Amino acid sequence: PTIAAISVPFDLGAGRRGASKGPKAIMQAGLLRGLQQMDMTIQHVAEIRLPNDTAAPLPPEVEKNNLKYLAEVIDVNTRLAEQVSNVVEQGQFPLIIGGDHSIAIGTLAGLSEHYSNLGVIWIDAHSDLNTADTSPTGNIHGMSLAISLGMGHPLLTSIKGEQAKVKAENIVLIGSRSLDEGEKKLIRSLGIKCYTMHDIDRKGMAAVMQDAITYISGKTDGVHVSFDVDSLDPLEAPGTGTAVKGGLQFREAHLAVEMLHEAGIVTSAEFVEVNPLLDDNNKTSQLAVGLISSLLGKQIL
Ligand code: ARG
Ligand code: MN
Ligand code: MN
Ligand code: MN
Repeated sequence: PTIAAISVPFDLGAGRRGASKGPKAIMQAGLLRGLQQMDMTIQHVAEIRLPNDTAAPLPPEVEKNNLKYLAEVIDVNTRLAEQVSNVVEQGQFPLIIGGDHSIAIGTLAGLSEHYSNLGVIWIDAHSDLNTADTSPTGNIHGMSLAISLGMGHPLLTSIKGEQAKVKAENIVLIGSRSLDEGEKKLIRSLGIKCYTMHDIDRKGMAAVMQDAITYISGKTDGVHVSFDVDSLDPLEAPGTGTAVKGGLQFREAHLAVEMLHEAGIVTSAEFVEVNPLLDDNNKTSQLAVGLISSLLGKQIL
């Protein structure tokens, strides 16, 4: 199908500025050109941003303890959810380009209007399963997956309806290596499938992806890939705000997305947390273009 690229130049969910410049850098690294050369039809359908960088104000009584830029995160994700839902409605493949990982809130809310058992493959050094109560930082990009599970501030969990946007049993985490205490507890108590870097070291990425695809395929009616570039090792992806040593190698990451393409299960994707201000000669933007292309079917031969 036609790929509908949605850029989201937003970084207030992160602890440092710069991820808002990710979409432009990824476009400049040749995303559209590369995909068109693969005979894919891709359109840049929308750029989601706050008018004049100002969010709709929250009622003064709203509790926003340990939730930085809550109004802005709500506003941008409400707009994004609507756009993602419209794209799916038109039969197109949504490709969301961030922006920090808080935008998964809007992506998953929009997708939830069209899938009742959405699978989510969350490739990330982190699990983004904090709530305001467990977050060490108050940065909402560390809370987006919990919010999509229905856990968190009611104004965030109620975007596109009160219901959970994804079920714990339909989530797979890949590349985890920096989990906060509250997140570990939640992963265990909900039984979320989690392939840590230790698992990838031991079994190899091919076996991990085969397992993950088998786990998610039968029981879901669509699969969203949420790819945080900090899943890669900082030597490969220096341009990201919360880099963690000991990450995926270049080929491991490509193999993961190549196998997802081969499985033919992916119905939407987002690539987040490219921060051009921290990058080294656009290395991370170029990496993102390569990974997106591979996920969408680019082959070596
Ligand atoms: N766990 C940390 C926090 O809650 C880091 C989260 C990083 N998230 C991200 N999407 N890069 O602040
Ligand atoms: Mn609809
Ligand atoms: Mn993340
Ligand atoms: Mn991360």
